[in-house]
Amino acid sequence: MASLDSQYGRPMVAGGLGRQDVSTIETKGTALITGASSGIGAIYADRLAKRGYDLILVARSKNRLAALARRLENETSRSVETISADLNNKTDLARIETTLRTNPSITLLVNNAGVGATTPLLDSDVEKMDEMIRLNVGALTRLTYAAAPGFVARGGGTIVNIASSVAISPETLNGVYGGSKAFVLALSLSLNHELAGKGCACKRSCREQRPRSSGTSRACRFAISPLRS
Ligand SMILES: NC(=O)c1ccc[n+]([C@@H]2O[C@H](COP(=O)([O-])OP(=O)(O)OC[C@H]3O[C@@H](n4cnc5c(N)ncnc54)[C@H](OP(=O)(O)O)[C@@H]3O)[C@@H](O)[C@H]2O)c1
Repeated sequence: MASLDSQYGRPMVAGGLGRQDVSTIETKGTALITGASSGIGAIYADRLAKRGYDLILVARSKNRLAALARRLENETSRSVETISADLNNKTDLARIETTLRTNPSITLLVNNAGVGATTPLLDSDVEKMDEMIRLNVGALTRLTYAAAPGFVARGGGTIVNIASSVAISPETLNGVYGGSKAFVLALSLSLNHELAGKGCACKRSCREQRPRSSGTSRACRFAISPLRS
């Protein structure tokens, strides 16, 4: 995982599970996690399997996904599928969209795959910036579109979009990265507004604030969750 304050802004904290007998946890459907081969995505995979989700893990590195899947299947007895896909490749991205549209067991999408940058705008390669926008913004948007209608139709489902503190402090790191995460923040807030009254809610599910001495960190994680009756 990238270190704190490196190319990503301040990190978010994924919820912890604590010790419990994972074999007694009932399944909660399937979670599809992008960028699951390392870092925050791999931590989500670990925590969600231990909370009773079957998993579909997506990233480019087949071997790292396979190793994580083996470990989690052994530790949790959950079903863990892996799909090797480059989300900047249109064909690969379309495969993941199809999976989200056609697999009704999927109850949770974690849009985590993303890249960051620390270089000032004028020193940055525009091709790299374009790639970043396509992954952080384009792929995340298409996958949200692929998942949300099914969740609404089935009356439940969750989308977690991983943003960054740079969404609200764009001067901290590379401006294109900050802009991409500001998009994620705005999209998630907009979904919150749009889904109100449609049986689903879009809510800020985790907002971390550190003491002033270490600066204010707002790890932006948004979820669309079914309204509980
Ligand atoms: N770490 C932080 O401090 C921090 C802070 C704030 C926000 N974030 C955000 O959190 C998310 C994860 O960050 P991280 O620190 O965990 O990064 P990381 O360890 O570098 O993991 C990034 C993940 O995304 C995957 N990925 C990258 N490019 C991809 C592509 N084209 N197609 C498919 N998968 C791709 C990588 O897998 P492969 O290489 O195998 O494809 C990897 O699994 C990002 O959205 C980042 O912006 C991180």
